[in-house]
Amino acid sequence: MKEQLEAIRKSALESIAGTQAGADLEALRVKYLGKKGELTAVLKQMGSLSAELRPVMGQMANEVRATVEKAMEEQTAILAEKALEAKLAAETLDVTIPGRPAEIGHKHPMYTALDEFKQIFLNMGFEIFDGPEIEQEDYNFTKLNTPDDHPAREWSDTFYLTEDSRILLRTQTSPMQIRAIEEHGVPIRMISPGRVYRKDEVDATHSPMFHQIEGLVVDKGITMADLKGTLNAVVREIYGPNTQTRFRPHHFPFTEPSCEMDIQCHKCGGKGCPTCKGEGWIEVLGAGMVHPKVLRNCGVDPDEYSGYAFGFGLERLAMGQYKISDLRLIFENDIRFLEQF
Ligand code: DAH
Repeated sequence: MKEQLEAIRKSALESIAGTQAGADLEALRVKYLGKKGELTAVLKQMGSLSAELRPVMGQMANEVRATVEKAMEEQTAILAEKALEAKLAAETLDVTIPGRPAEIGHKHPMYTALDEFKQIFLNMGFEIFDGPEIEQEDYNFTKLNTPDDHPAREWSDTFYLTEDSRILLRTQTSPMQIRAIEEHGVPIRMISPGRVYRKDEVDATHSPMFHQIEGLVVDKGITMADLKGTLNAVVREIYGPNTQTRFRPHHFPFTEPSCEMDIQCHKCGGKGCPTCKGEGWIEVLGAGMVHPKVLRNCGVDPDEYSGYAFGFGLERLAMGQYKISDLRLIFENDIRFLEQF
């Protein structure tokens, strides 16, 4: 029996040392220490031993069991350690690999120009209004005193959304004159930037979608002098303090009198060059004194109040400021173009 126990100890310790996984150890536990295991089988033979040998063998069997159990415990710890090492090795991060640089974007140049523009007007006490791009014919044309036979109302010029021509994509930001007065009342000083739509073919100076900035001031005693003074101050903020301007008579249905404002070409100083197409002057906006009918259409008494309005083209403004020669570059969003700003 002593030899049997020695043999069990030896073979168990060897097998335990050779295990690679927890499952193997468990199998060995069953094989040696389980109910039907080898050590248990030996213990069952104790009954046949003499009274002197029984306690000696009993003690030896207990020692073998204790030794095997201890070896299993140690091996369990060793296997756990190995598993952890393997896991760490597999998950190692190589901190010396260069990372992917995070690309930081910036505002589109046209919106940078718009922000500057807004700030100039905010500094002068104007409020900013936002309005719908899907507009009623009434606001886009009728309340702005546009005659029924005006060419801008043609289906060939305007994107109508309904057969009855009542709903359309606004062709100008001028309907915001009406909406702003309806919402805010008078006196009012506001600008309203936004997208407008016209059935134009795309070329270097045209796009079916572009941006305008509407402006409106209504108060008691507003005159053309206020219009000229304010707009002169604005373009001198944008194009420099020595910018020369001129106002040419024009016609718009919603202003009377109406004008267009030009700035002297900042490239050639008025001599004529490709930027100003040889003219020496560049048109920057349409403007005028708000037509009494428009004021009346908003419930404002034109004998009590007067006002001026103006409309800038935002793309043209940005193109002038950043020396962009082709309108299409603004909308194509080619990263090689945008990165330059
Ligand atoms: N809405 C005009 C256009 O699209 C621009 C304009 C002209 C706006 C005169 C105005 C204005 O407010 O007074 O051509």
